[in-house]
Amino acid sequence: MSSEPAPPSPWRVEGAEAVVTEGDFLGLPCLVKRRPVKGYRHPALDQRLRKERLRTEVRLLAEARRAGVRTPVVLDLDLASSTLVLERLEGPTLAEVLERTAPGDEERGAKVERWGHALGRLHACGISHGDLTASNVLWCEGDVALLDLSLGSRAPGLEEMGVDLHLVSEDLNTLCPDREALVQRFVRGYREAYPSGGEAALLRAKEIEGRVRYA
Ligand SMILES: Nc1ncnc2c1ncn2[C@@H]1O[C@H](COP(=O)(O)OP(=O)(O)OP(=O)(O)O)[C@@H](O)[C@H]1O
Ligand SMILES: [Mg+2]
Repeated sequence: MSSEPAPPSPWRVEGAEAVVTEGDFLGLPCLVKRRPVKGYRHPALDQRLRKERLRTEVRLLAEARRAGVRTPVVLDLDLASSTLVLERLEGPTLAEVLERTAPGDEERGAKVERWGHALGRLHACGISHGDLTASNVLWCEGDVALLDLSLGSRAPGLEEMGVDLHLVSEDLNTLCPDREALVQRFVRGYREAYPSGGEAALLRAKEIEGRVRYA
């Protein structure tokens, strides 16, 4: 890498795949996201998966941003150590927002509607997210930013878009007593941003919900 990030600060998140720490990159606040080797996977498979996810994440973060969906800028990457250096965005995740606000709060609904809008825009520009939980969305400078696109895909079919929508609905179900009102706000934002194909994707999400329920 062209510049070594500063030593990790006490802020550190260890997800299922990645370890995320705060740092400093050429004077800019950054986030260093590293996918450590997973000993339980075959070494060749592990290396392939880590590289693929990193590449996908970098490509889709940039493409989404070009299509007008806020995502962190990629500042640097190192395929050999599966490390990504991202612009650090300030703000709580939507999971934190939902935890801290009360059902019925207008701001809460408005933020979820912007979340729906961002997904609609992402789908309209031909990208699916693949892991759209409220922890992968930040509320930053008055709008949402999407994170963690490593499981996303380009030119998604209806099924992938339906799965994105279904995952959001499941996540809201787990996090919120006012789930129904929030799903409605989400869908309103989604439809507005994706008038040409949103209806078909929403229909597919309903089908998926039925399949999961009666499986
Ligand atoms: N650019 C960023 N700016 C601010 N906070 C971020 C940024 N990227 C990640 N975060 C924070 O770090 C957390 C974990 O990041 P991320 O979701 O990218 O990793 P992960 O879920 O462990 O990774 P993966 O699922 O790709 O293996 C996020 O939920 C968010 O709180
Ligand atoms: Mg994540």
